[in-house]
Amino acid sequence: MKKTYRVAVVGATGMVGQTFIKVLEERNFPISKIVFFASKRSAGQEITFQGLPHIVRELTTTSFNEGFDFALFSAGGETSLNYAPYAAEQGATVIDNSSAWRMKSGYPLIVPEVNGQVLTSKDRIIANPNCSTIQSVVPLKVIHDLFHLKRVVYSTYQAVSGSGYKGVFDLERGKNNQDPQFYAKPIYENVLPHIDDFLESGYTKEEKKMIDETRKILGMNDLKVTATCVRVPVLNGHSVSINVECEKRIDLSLLREELKSIGIRVFEKNNYPTPKDVSGRDQIYVGRLRLDDSVTNGLNLWVVADNIRKGAATNAIEIAEYLIKEGLK
Ligand code: A2P
Repeated sequence: MKKTYRVAVVGATGMVGQTFIKVLEERNFPISKIVFFASKRSAGQEITFQGLPHIVRELTTTSFNEGFDFALFSAGGETSLNYAPYAAEQGATVIDNSSAWRMKSGYPLIVPEVNGQVLTSKDRIIANPNCSTIQSVVPLKVIHDLFHLKRVVYSTYQAVSGSGYKGVFDLERGKNNQDPQFYAKPIYENVLPHIDDFLESGYTKEEKKMIDETRKILGMNDLKVTATCVRVPVLNGHSVSINVECEKRIDLSLLREELKSIGIRVFEKNNYPTPKDVSGRDQIYVGRLRLDDSVTNGLNLWVVADNIRKGAATNAIEIAEYLIKEGLK
């Protein structure tokens, strides 16, 4: 008989939490029990899963005592730091969408098709990477395996859904001539080179996340990486322009074939993907592949994905599926 699993969804009323629920249903994840947690504010609300009503519970330190196999967290960094250890102690494998555990040593940061092999049955808290990073490292791993990466330059065009409902509401407010409540400046009819807080260095935390997480996932601590992260007035779907320099000569047709072979959709000639093409899908789309002759072995590419799905919920569920497939859970 097919094994089934007890699943907790923490942050079930949030944008990623809601997508966890949708993706679990769509993929027919083998579930024997599912419980939805959020803050006290949402306790008592009803969520429908596979046609049945479930009452949202307030998250507490004893929430996991009844026993879970997986706890999918997307309730912010502080909630993860405070509650993931309780879930782990009670035997659940936590897959956490916040940035709280990503750069801590001993905690794996996983995109299954890139570095799933580092997972072991002992891992109890597994971090889901930053949204723009997930969609970028998948093609970058292919490029690295073929041509050896030397340097990566990211420029992002990130949708407001990446900020959760707060971002979506600010775009709506702007359309109605109202001031923003979440972003520092209006996002409607504007672009903001400012995602997350600024650091002493002049970089933002989002840029630092992309730099650090790329190195950790690819296992290349010394890789030269830089990033500029920009919020754009797009509802859903992040785009990343990536410029790379490699050690070896780049063969574009070989690269296209290898990208396709791992499930990336490659747009050729003058066709290119946009956020509207990927919204609601799990695939990563790549276009504008072209050599950069301004450096030796340079390449430009344009990478688009649904930041709430492959950039968050789908990747987390793919981590759980990988653990099951490899017999690690
Ligand atoms: P709630 O809706 O009760 O505030 P988003 O990223 O879309 O803003 O969603 C954040 C999610 O995290 C929501 O489900 C929110 O629940 C949940 N959350 C926020 N703070 C806590 C907390 N202290 N305990 C449990 N869940 C929390």
